Amino acid sequence: KEVTFDYSKAAGFVSAEEMANFKTTVMAARDTLVEKTGAGNDYLGWIDLPVDYDQEEFARIKKAAAKIQGDSDVLLVVGIGGSYLGARAAIEFLSHSFYNVLPKGVRKTPEIYFVGNSISSKYIRDLQQVLEGKDFSINIISKSGTTTEPAIAFRVFKEMLVNKYGKDEASKRIYATTDKARGALKNLADQEGYEEFVVPDDVGGRYSVLTAVGLLPIAVSGANIDKLMEGAASGRKKALELPYETNAALQYAAVRNILLRKGKQVEITANYEPSLHYVSEWWKQLFGESEGKDRRGIFPASVDLTTDLHSMGQFIQDGARIMFETVINVEESPAEILLQKEEVDTDGMNYLAGKSVDFVNKSAMNGTILAHTDGDVPNLLVTVPEQNEFYLGELFYFYEFACGVSGYILGINPFNQPGVESYKRNMFALLGKPGYEEQREALLKRL
Ligand code: PA5
Repeated sequence: KEVTFDYSKAAGFVSAEEMANFKTTVMAARDTLVEKTGAGNDYLGWIDLPVDYDQEEFARIKKAAAKIQGDSDVLLVVGIGGSYLGARAAIEFLSHSFYNVLPKGVRKTPEIYFVGNSISSKYIRDLQQVLEGKDFSINIISKSGTTTEPAIAFRVFKEMLVNKYGKDEASKRIYATTDKARGALKNLADQEGYEEFVVPDDVGGRYSVLTAVGLLPIAVSGANIDKLMEGAASGRKKALELPYETNAALQYAAVRNILLRKGKQVEITANYEPSLHYVSEWWKQLFGESEGKDRRGIFPASVDLTTDLHSMGQFIQDGARIMFETVINVEESPAEILLQKEEVDTDGMNYLAGKSVDFVNKSAMNGTILAHTDGDVPNLLVTVPEQNEFYLGELFYFYEFACGVSGYILGINPFNQPGVESYKRNMFALLGKPGYEEQREALLKRL
């Protein structure tokens, strides 16, 4: 069993001949990536990460996770973007759907809350209330150490921690994941004696899930990070070694670019499991931030199905024909729930008696794939055998590799993000940050 990619249902939109014709383009992009000759080539540390990571730090991550599990009811994970979404995607994919509200004892690991990924006062206040009377620790994650959203949240919760435990004990409950040598957080961590973990120089935020950025929170949730890395290593081997024709990542990169050239400017990732919601969010950042530049790119969107079939389903079936859809299918559900026959068939569901809920879900999925295909939405399928660490590692790597290749096919630098600075400049100016006085005047006139 393995993570697979299948575009057979999109055969009416992408022919075998087109795929064969595109091979040279895809292989050139692949070589640019692997030989590290393209734009952004100083951010390719993620390529070998699954087989070449810091073992000493990996052991420290496990040790820190065990300490947090032992002394904390709650772990706060403070970070945004690439310093947030990977951990959340993995924890939600791997854990119980109601992880945080399971009774203590049933869940043997701390509650985990994410903060610093917005600037909401309500969210912060509500989280402060959740922490009342609970032992907690903080994992502050910021490569630059200066990002506004996590910095604000960290100030608030660090203060709460110091008030609760005193400065010394608070410092032992703060874990800083940041640059190995530079930045405000690095300086503070050195000064206060926080345990430190590293975001490698050559790994950008959205490619960092398999570094301490993702691994520490994931390990605290009780997930097996060895298996996650093994899965990623397996994904890496396939991505690097398999020929174009059977290489899932290369095929995916090829198909999406062929579809783009036919006017399909939006890719919708669809899942049929609520616990994949944040995998889609992670995927959106990966592809959106990597490809959306120089006035180019495929806009990555996502839907949770069948939920959104009752809202967005209308548009996908019938609206502007600008999109293709990639379904992430989890082959095997961990839960078997059989529908029972009822005496009086008021809801007309008795025809499903003896069938499993997952059978209904898969039938909805298969029916939807065909309906959307008939509605001129090419459907691609990524299949994950089961929701476990190994296959998640494979899935992460599959997407990362495909994204790098796809970016080079597009002709952009998949590893920078110059566009994210514009809102920051305006925000700093409006906040009155020293050095932004001129912009401030200009912006205030426009508001
Ligand atoms: O992918 C990226 O570069 C961004 O999403 C960053 O991860 C995000 O802005 C957070 O940055 P930092 O880790 O420096 O706080």
